[in-house]
Amino acid sequence: MIGKLNHVAIAVNDLRAAADTYRNLLGATVGKETEQPDHGVKVVFIDLPNTKVELISPLGEDSPIARFLDKNPVGGIHHICYEVDDILAARDRLLQGGARVLGGGQPKTGAHGKPVLFLHPKDFNGVLVELEEA
Ligand code: CO
Repeated sequence: MIGKLNHVAIAVNDLRAAADTYRNLLGATVGKETEQPDHGVKVVFIDLPNTKVELISPLGEDSPIARFLDKNPVGGIHHICYEVDDILAARDRLLQGGARVLGGGQPKTGAHGKPVLFLHPKDFNGVLVELEEA
C-alpha cells in the first residue's frame, strides 16, 4: 500500500538556523519558509535527490510542535511521511486493521497541497506516521 518515502520531518526551535545548517554545512538545496496555520507549524523543505527533509517549527500558541520541543529541547525527528495512491482507501484499510487514525480520520491539506492523515505512533513502533496522497 505505501509507496515512496515523501519526507522525514525534523522539529526545530529556530527554523532559520536549521535551514542555514542544511544549506551551508550540508550543502543542501533549501526551499522557502512557509506558514501552515491549519497545522500550527512553519515549514522549510530540503530537497534531496531521493526524498525530502521537512524542518518544522511551532506557529501559534498551542502548536503540537511546541509540546514536542518541550520534551525534546534540541529538536528531533517528529514524523515520517509515506506516499499512498488513495488516502481514503488507505485510511479504511488501516481502521479495519485496528490502527488509530488521528484527527477523526478526516484528511487535511498538507504542506504540498495534497490530502494527508496522521497515524498514532503507538501503532507504528513509536513513530508518528503521515500518509500523503501522491
Ligand atoms: Co510532514
